[in-house]
Amino acid sequence: SPSDPDLVARARAAKEKLGEKVFVLGHHYQRDEVIQFADVTGDSFKLAKDAAARPAAEYIVFCGVHFMAESADILTTDDQKVVLPDLAAGCSMADMATAEQVAECWDVLTEAGIADRVVPVSYMNSSADIKAFTGKHGGTICTSSNAERALTWAFEQGEQVLFLPDQHLGRNTAVRDLGMSLDDCVLYNPHKPNGGLTAQQLRDAKMILWRGHCSVHGRFSVESVREVRERIPGVNVLVHPECKHEVVAAADYVGSTEYIIKALEAAPAGSKWAIGTELNLVQRLANRFAPEGKEIVFLDRTVCFCSTMNRIDLPHLVWTLESLAEGNEINVIEVDKETADFAQLALERMLALP
Ligand code: 13P
Ligand code: SF4
Repeated sequence: SPSDPDLVARARAAKEKLGEKVFVLGHHYQRDEVIQFADVTGDSFKLAKDAAARPAAEYIVFCGVHFMAESADILTTDDQKVVLPDLAAGCSMADMATAEQVAECWDVLTEAGIADRVVPVSYMNSSADIKAFTGKHGGTICTSSNAERALTWAFEQGEQVLFLPDQHLGRNTAVRDLGMSLDDCVLYNPHKPNGGLTAQQLRDAKMILWRGHCSVHGRFSVESVREVRERIPGVNVLVHPECKHEVVAAADYVGSTEYIIKALEAAPAGSKWAIGTELNLVQRLANRFAPEGKEIVFLDRTVCFCSTMNRIDLPHLVWTLESLAEGNEINVIEVDKETADFAQLALERMLALP
């Protein structure tokens, strides 16, 4: 349980015993009981960079979801091991694009005669297979904090972009940051023949958006924005770009988890904020900034935690650290070499974005 002092003491003891051998990364959506043991916290971009910059540690314990641990494995050296405290901590969005579906999509684009001018841009929230596909076809990875730069880069390399797997981040970035119109975007549905699109529609589109979404962020609605503005006059609405386009359009500010934290740090005392992102982070920020007189509420009280992020809890962390301290290497995430090499290409293009 969150405040079980016995578990806290055990986690602390195991971590102390491991010393420099272990480095714990914590995504902002993790529970407080886990975050207290993180050596570094961050959004998925920051954590990927931090994992790459930690050559000393033998074990990287990744408190986050599977695709983040895979990315860390790809970016760390071969003798470092990345450990995910619960192997069932996946991401429903990442699962919405499989290697087979994406290969089939590429065939459809080839048939339509456009594959050589399409540059794939894949959101970090994707499997290593999808990242490898992206690297192989000259594309880059992006996160919610560099999507604009990634898309700008991609449109310098080719005329069209295939954006995987989050339609909302793709659409929001294209429209809000690159000034495209909604008509420049088409939605590729992997469950329909030819993605549900004609060859002409594919040729005319600037952005081909994969039909994936986040099951948590997808639940915020324009209605929740309207409701909170009515309930809290003068409130600033700040949402993550995984929210639907109309929600983002109705909000005052949009950004990654790291952006959200910085915005609240800079906010004046007395200001009021409604935040549309994962609940663990919103609760932590509300508690942190309440003493400074900043009022922070969750954008929609009917939306719940990311259930897979929440799978990493204190009992799993204790089990992980104690196992490692006893020389028992459990839950190691290892991407096969061929996949890792192509995925690394795509990740390094992201890390090198101007
Ligand atoms: P960030 O890159 O903003 O940390 O988001 C990751 C994520 O999973 C959002 O749902
Ligand atoms: Fe995946 Fe959404 Fe959870 Fe992020 S919040 S890990 S995108 S399901």
